Amino acid sequence: MLWLALLALNVCLCSAFDNGLGKKPQMGWNSWNKFGCDINETVILSTAQKMKELGLLEYGYEYIVMDDCYALKQRDPVTHKIVEDPDKFPNGILDLSNKIHDLGFKFGMYSSAGKYTCAGYPGSLHYEEIDADTFANDWEIDYLKYDNCFNEGNSGTAKISYERYNNMSQALLNTGRPIFYSLCQWGEDHVWDWGSTLANSWRISGDIYDNFDRYDDRCPCETYECPGLQGYSCSINNILEKAVPLGQKASEFSGWNDLDSLEVGNGGMTTSEYKAHFTLWAILKSPLVLGNDVTGMSDEDFAIVTNKAIIAINQDGSRPANRMWKRKTEGGYLHLFTNSLNNGTTVVTLYNSGDAVKDTTVEFSDIFFGDKKSAAKSYTFSELWTNDTFTAEKKFKTDIGEHSVKIWWLDCPEEYCGTSEDNSKRFDFEY
Ligand SMILES: *[C@@H]1O[C@H](CO)[C@@H](O)[C@H](O)[C@H]1NC(C)=O
Ligand SMILES: *[C@@H]1O[C@H](CO)[C@@H](O)[C@H](O)[C@H]1NC(C)=O
Ligand SMILES: *[C@@H]1O[C@H](CO)[C@@H](O)[C@H](O)[C@H]1NC(C)=O
Ligand SMILES: *[C@@H]1O[C@H](CO)[C@@H](O)[C@H](O)[C@H]1NC(C)=O
Repeated sequence: MLWLALLALNVCLCSAFDNGLGKKPQMGWNSWNKFGCDINETVILSTAQKMKELGLLEYGYEYIVMDDCYALKQRDPVTHKIVEDPDKFPNGILDLSNKIHDLGFKFGMYSSAGKYTCAGYPGSLHYEEIDADTFANDWEIDYLKYDNCFNEGNSGTAKISYERYNNMSQALLNTGRPIFYSLCQWGEDHVWDWGSTLANSWRISGDIYDNFDRYDDRCPCETYECPGLQGYSCSINNILEKAVPLGQKASEFSGWNDLDSLEVGNGGMTTSEYKAHFTLWAILKSPLVLGNDVTGMSDEDFAIVTNKAIIAINQDGSRPANRMWKRKTEGGYLHLFTNSLNNGTTVVTLYNSGDAVKDTTVEFSDIFFGDKKSAAKSYTFSELWTNDTFTAEKKFKTDIGEHSVKIWWLDCPEEYCGTSEDNSKRFDFEY
């Protein structure tokens, strides 16, 4: 009997997807949010050079991903390969890939599981093996973002979408080159239920739009239960509501819910909204993929995306944050999230999506819901945007600005929250 059980376990392990990648949410940069189709080798390479110069690689931003619009509109008539646009890449894509690798980054590209890409270039549907070979061997990529445009009706059930995305998954595995596989299937056909069996991450919504909470007819659905299209031009609050219930689907053993590339630095939100955006994406264990023009990045935006403690929380292999409560307030909600990190420390995030400053009390019985022992202890709270610290038991009171977050690491490790003389003096709570 034991032998049979082990055999069954073994079969199960053998069939699980494992390309050795995706133990942590991926970090990097993607060209789409800022540049759309206006890309060429100068744009991609100057981004990589600037990211190196700014030290972003050391913060973990390792993948440089070139999105749509790098190809000619026709495949090569003889080999049927995708052909790079020689005007945009006078030295060729392999040369670009080599230069990015020489800088120490990994190189990513894009295609669609459809007849065409979203911008109308050749898609990889029914060309999976040829294209995987081009990506792996001609261009030596390390990452593929795989879109959903022009899928020729091969969607609408989990099975058909699964097959379509699995065909590229198998083709990539067959190349023998480790390639991070990032599904961009817009959260259709319950991709979070099967994405982990063939990929490292999967988009759970339509495309992000650089806006805090704008309602948009093109992105009407506020939860993943919305039937049909998940839309596009989705505000960060719209995507948040889709992501929150899906936390249980993501882990270091399965892969990650992708809330789409970041908009920090693109100008559509205030600094406090961008801090909220970055924090929420990080605690929900979304990939942290910059989507701005890093060559012209402000110091303020740089400081947001290089918050070491918040990056460390994102890169801890533990599961996404749980939302412990959500309470209606003027023009929005107050939300309380908690993360349990793998080493047993706890992170508490308070998020105010409403239009007015709020005072609130946070009860330890909510932070440690169902765990009376932990709720009974005293903790030092370190706020990761201001470095304010305080010690509390049972509950604490705080205020929280409109459209903003506060995120505290409880008993924060010294490397992230060393108590300088400066911040130990600043208490921001009444008890
Ligand atoms: C790439 O585009 C930029 C901005 O449009 C332009 O300045 C540059 O010359 C272009 N480079 C190539 C190789 O086409
Ligand atoms: C996947 O590949 C198989 C084998 O080549 C093919 O028969 C099938 O049509 C493909 N499925 C989709 C949805 O593209
Ligand atoms: C806890 O986990 C974080 C993130 O993975 C790590 O950086 C830190 O050193 C760990 N140790 C303690 C004591 O918190
Ligand atoms: C907070 O402390 C960290 C770690 O010591 C430091 O890197 C960061 O600059 C500080 N932030 C502020 C706003 O003081």
